[in-house]
Amino acid sequence: MYKLVIKGGKTLNGSVKIAGSKNAALPILFASILADGPLILNNTPHLSDVSTTLRLLMDMGSEFILESDNSLFVDSSKLTKLTAEYSLVKTMRASILSLGPMLAKYGEAKISLPGGCAIGMRPVNLHLKALEDLGAKIEVKNGYIHASAEKLIGTDVHFEQITVTATENILMAATLAQGTTTIHNAAQEPEIVDLANCLIKMGAKISGAGTSVIIIEGVSNLSGATYTVCPDRIEAGTYLIAAAITGGKITLKNIHHQSMRAIIRKLIETGAEIKCDKTSITLDMKGRKPKAVNVRTSAYPNFPTDMQAQFCALNSIADGQATITETIFENRFMHIPELARMGAELSLEGNTVISKGVKSLTGANLMATDLRASASLVLAGLAAQGTTTIERVYHLDRGYETIEEKLKLLGADIQRIQD
Ligand code: EPU
Repeated sequence: MYKLVIKGGKTLNGSVKIAGSKNAALPILFASILADGPLILNNTPHLSDVSTTLRLLMDMGSEFILESDNSLFVDSSKLTKLTAEYSLVKTMRASILSLGPMLAKYGEAKISLPGGCAIGMRPVNLHLKALEDLGAKIEVKNGYIHASAEKLIGTDVHFEQITVTATENILMAATLAQGTTTIHNAAQEPEIVDLANCLIKMGAKISGAGTSVIIIEGVSNLSGATYTVCPDRIEAGTYLIAAAITGGKITLKNIHHQSMRAIIRKLIETGAEIKCDKTSITLDMKGRKPKAVNVRTSAYPNFPTDMQAQFCALNSIADGQATITETIFENRFMHIPELARMGAELSLEGNTVISKGVKSLTGANLMATDLRASASLVLAGLAAQGTTTIERVYHLDRGYETIEEKLKLLGADIQRIQD
């Protein structure tokens, strides 16, 4: 097991290249199941969630070559097994994204139910209900979803709640369905637009991705394609906070600032100066302490839940009091007791964190619990006085490519050591 050791108090300065988006790369990898030829994906992030997805696809009969320049060749055109096993699904909930593509292409799929996780119950009922709307027969037994359909038939799908991966599952399934599918109350995240753009390159007929209504006209088959995965807006937001929390100045390269408006607006409220151009963002805190900001998470284009924990870390040492309200997941506050162990004054009332910024945090031994909670502990460690040790860093490796290398480039004193 590895841990991160951070000696806090260094001001971060410099520039860093942002990786491809985890939450775009994962659905696109599962979309390879729909294709009759290989996908060549550029800007694929080197993350453990990507490795888990590739292991799952390989177990079902895919072949892949991952190059060191972040390009990936993946051929899932001839699956030999239509089952996503529990042993792999339990480590990554996004495995549910294999359901729509398998069902659409092969007429059957057996997927282990993902189960709850550290941030909430996260049921998959809306994925299943929407696939039933498309004509699938679904049965859940012995912990597995058994789905079958001679042919999926396009229809109107109304999501009662906005859901990112269920929108993606139905988007993928509908590309090979007979007739037209209209998804109402669709999630509008940039990662959905990226998936839709990749599917369009593969020959799918899709309009409206990025709005609340997506229309998909089914086609008889999809081909392989070459596609470049969009930049990771959550990784980018996390590094911007690393600069803001340490009073520094950093430039992020390889990003689309248009997809980060809600995050950038909040950072400007903290007192940061931000300049954007086509593919980069510079944040300059000019040595100042950030001001505390109120945040309420909500579906895109509003403030993302995946940045909530990082803003909790920032508010811990910011000037003033503030509230952060989580509306997407019911239990996404595992970082609060850990931040409190560093001296943060945070209290939880229902789904709202009330923070009173302290002068400084002090280093402590901490336990990472989930991906974004872990990121918030790293940020707090960078700002704290003294040494912070973070255990269970495998949570971070799911979504941040070589985090300690990138932070070192920016001047952080951070080491990964083996127990
Ligand atoms: N929900 C249901 N039933 C369903 C599906 C969702 O009740 O069938 C509920 C969830 O429990 C949650 C809400 O709907 O309360 C929204 O969940 P959503 O389905 O949008 O989340 P997700 O698709 O499982 C993706 C990201 C998450 C991100 C959320 C919200 C991927 C692979 N995962 O999850 O990313 O937090 O959308 O934006 O895209 C992360 O990267 O750290 C991460 C957790």
